[in-house]
Amino acid sequence: MHILALPPILLVLSNVHAFQYEELVQHIDSHQEEYVEALREWIAIESDSSNVLKRPDLHRMMEMVAQKLTQMGGTVELVDIGEQELPDGQMLALPKVVTALFGSDSDKYTVCIYGHVDVQPAKLEDGWATDPYNLTDINGNFYGRGASDNKAPVLAWIHAVGAYKALSMELPVNVKFVIEGMEETGSNGLDTMILAQRDTFFSNVDYIIISDCSWLSRRPALTYGTRGNCYFYAEVEGPKQDLHSGVYGGAVIEPMTDLIGILNTLISPSGTILIPGIREAVAPLSDEEWKMYQDIQFDMDNYKNEIGVNQLMYNNKVDLLAHLWRYPTVSIHGIEGAFSDQGTKTVIPAKVTAKFSIRQVPNMDPAMVKKQVTDYLHSVFAKRKSPNKLKVTMVIGAKPWLADTQHALYEAGKAAIKRVFDMDPDLIREGGTIPIARTFQDVTGKNIIMIPIGGFDDGLHSQNEKISRYNYIEGTKLFIAYLNEVSLIKSRV
Ligand SMILES: *[C@@H]1O[C@H](CO)[C@@H](O)[C@H](O)[C@H]1NC(C)=O
Ligand SMILES: [Zn+2]
Repeated sequence: MHILALPPILLVLSNVHAFQYEELVQHIDSHQEEYVEALREWIAIESDSSNVLKRPDLHRMMEMVAQKLTQMGGTVELVDIGEQELPDGQMLALPKVVTALFGSDSDKYTVCIYGHVDVQPAKLEDGWATDPYNLTDINGNFYGRGASDNKAPVLAWIHAVGAYKALSMELPVNVKFVIEGMEETGSNGLDTMILAQRDTFFSNVDYIIISDCSWLSRRPALTYGTRGNCYFYAEVEGPKQDLHSGVYGGAVIEPMTDLIGILNTLISPSGTILIPGIREAVAPLSDEEWKMYQDIQFDMDNYKNEIGVNQLMYNNKVDLLAHLWRYPTVSIHGIEGAFSDQGTKTVIPAKVTAKFSIRQVPNMDPAMVKKQVTDYLHSVFAKRKSPNKLKVTMVIGAKPWLADTQHALYEAGKAAIKRVFDMDPDLIREGGTIPIARTFQDVTGKNIIMIPIGGFDDGLHSQNEKISRYNYIEGTKLFIAYLNEVSLIKSRV
């Protein structure tokens, strides 16, 4: 028979490769300076996606990512995702999305790593101690805009794959990359690209990995949930133009008074959301969840110091974490049309627009929230019997994301953290929103894990953003170990 004529070696499945962790770690340690230089080179690119004048830098950034992955032997594409319309009607090309593929062995799992290389704005004058685009090493911390969010984690993944390649070791899983350049402004164009490539690039992806978040303490973490966000504008319009308060004050029913009146009915001083239906939609806190929160390392005093307050809404750890991660909240962000300039201007603004948002958690539904908020605000406004006009619009409706921490992907994460750090991870959620996680889940139907490597005090989006050498380098080792752990998952689940 034909099959018996084959040499026995070919009958051995390709999954029996000893994991040469020590060699890989040695490679990482001996190439540290190279990795720091790579980060320096990336930080020097002002890839601020919110500033249209920086768009050429952003295009260059995407090309550098593509080039690096190509040099490593990946199959790389720069995917055109079209243009964005600017407020003045002009069209501007979006930065291309970089996709890459390493390995296509159908006996192996395929993971897809998502990251972004655009950054928040940063200027020295904002209060940075160092030039935000000149990577500066102070006591083992690398300061620079985008260091932790998300350039170093993306590089760490690239270097993890690169280490296997450099040592001519077979990758334990096939690895795909999706690196975008519009995350900080809402991942414009990415949803469409994911949808368009669902049956091509994403069709054989088993798992999606995101490393765009941070630890909660000095202990490594795995992130299993993020809150969504519904963002609203509430506009109150009255007289046809701004008026002088000395001349007209007392005669007109002022839009600003109406607006502040209704804003004040959204949430109570003790944090209770007053919009009917919202609290009822929230999934109840289970005993297991309560227990998980108990086990998390979290220093309330540290947290207070970090934000500069002496009192928080809740004074025990479990309540606080629960309200950061798994309960909704209302934040009022500002009022447009109001003169907040310095000086004692005595104007009655004719039209004012409040901006507020409601963080979303399971099982809230943005479409329902939109209706609940709009109906409620109109009803409290009606009670004022004001002749002014109220208009409520929801401009963002991002759903929350929640994973199962018992899933094999998380077990693999725990094992990798154990190997590299000799600890159990904090299992945490993020209060913020990573909308793309939910898109990946909804469109591809694949399981997602978030493995952060950034430190709890990295200052994402703030002045003096940094990542430590420890987190950058040990994080790279964690990714190496993680790829191996994923390959050991028993069956596709
Ligand atoms: C970055 O900072 C270092 C140290 O202050 C300085 O020597 C170097 O010239 C700076 N590089 C750039 C490109 O500004
Ligand atoms: Zn980010």
